[in-house]
Amino acid sequence: MKLVVTGASGFLGREVCLAALRRGHQVLALGGSRAPIVPDVKQARPFDLCDEAALEALILEEFPHAVVHCAALPTIETCLAEPDRARKLNTEVPKKLAQLCFHLGAKLVHLSTDTVFDGVAGNYQPTDKPAPLNLYGETKAAAEVEVLRFGREHAAVLRTSPIIGNSVTGDRGLHERLFASWKEGRPATLFTDEIRQPVEVSNLADVTIELCERTNLNGLFHWAGTEAMSRHEIGVRIARHFGLDADTLVKATSRAEVPSAASRPRDLSLRLHPLSGKLRTQAQSFEEQLAQLRVPRGSEDWYERTTRRKVVRRLEKGVDF
Ligand SMILES: NC(=O)c1ccc[n+]([C@@H]2O[C@H](COP(=O)([O-])OP(=O)(O)OC[C@H]3O[C@@H](n4cnc5c(N)ncnc54)[C@H](OP(=O)(O)O)[C@@H]3O)[C@@H](O)[C@H]2O)c1
Repeated sequence: MKLVVTGASGFLGREVCLAALRRGHQVLALGGSRAPIVPDVKQARPFDLCDEAALEALILEEFPHAVVHCAALPTIETCLAEPDRARKLNTEVPKKLAQLCFHLGAKLVHLSTDTVFDGVAGNYQPTDKPAPLNLYGETKAAAEVEVLRFGREHAAVLRTSPIIGNSVTGDRGLHERLFASWKEGRPATLFTDEIRQPVEVSNLADVTIELCERTNLNGLFHWAGTEAMSRHEIGVRIARHFGLDADTLVKATSRAEVPSAASRPRDLSLRLHPLSGKLRTQAQSFEEQLAQLRVPRGSEDWYERTTRRKVVRRLEKGVDF
């Protein structure tokens, strides 16, 4: 199958390219300002998706069987900083892609987010009504409507949760951002009452490719890991997984203590049904996700020093291992 992957210079898009290659597909990898660097991908280039005429020419020229659309302005903060760009990239571009895919009869897999919900109820199913609290959620919710308007028969909208995993730059995964802060001597302060359901990047990438292959699986779906937990628990479990001292490195706070938390949804846990019953790829427990994490590039020295100190302290105290 010939696939176009957008956002291929980003965290998820790169893994999508790798998953497509593993499954024997041909990939055109599109970055935004940067050319994607993905081993064994023969066609990779930067490309401004906001240039509608160029996008149309590219898709008609390439005539792909499927498009996996990962490019976005994917955070609350970046959307607030650049609202016009957020609306264009997060809503108008997916709409245009859905029209083009409809025209060609190509499958579109569009990445969306748990942030389309307000986080009041939690445990959301795909049929629950979006009620975004911020511009990021608004632009992504609007895109879902547009994509499904053109693509109910041949598009899959995949809402997902915070993505963890190893990134090529060493700074995109959740554990990588925690390490960056720890390395600078700053403990991470995380909410005990904000619930998320992390997903590992390569597992999510496999799902996007399986959706391309399964032409009969269309509509709105949820995918994440199997466990919802507080951001604080996520941080503690990551620290412990690496044998680090969670009590020192992860501090607790609550949403009531941080005024800006009001624009962030409280509980974004997702129900994975019906997609979880239809795919070969299985949703992972948090332990399975943790097992794939590596010490981030650039943090190795800090990590070695810190864990060595911990061993010495335990030896001094005479603690048995
Ligand atoms: N990361 C998460 O935790 C998370 C959670 C839920 C949902 N999602 C969704 O998952 C998808 C992927 O997120 P991600 O974390 O992989 O994002 P990311 O790492 O920030 O990557 C964003 C990608 O978009 C590209 N891009 C930006 N402007 C562009 C433009 N004008 N034309 C073409 N490409 C452009 C960037 O290219 P350059 O960098 O080369 O400019 C980059 O490749 C998004 O749809 C996001 O909403 C992410």
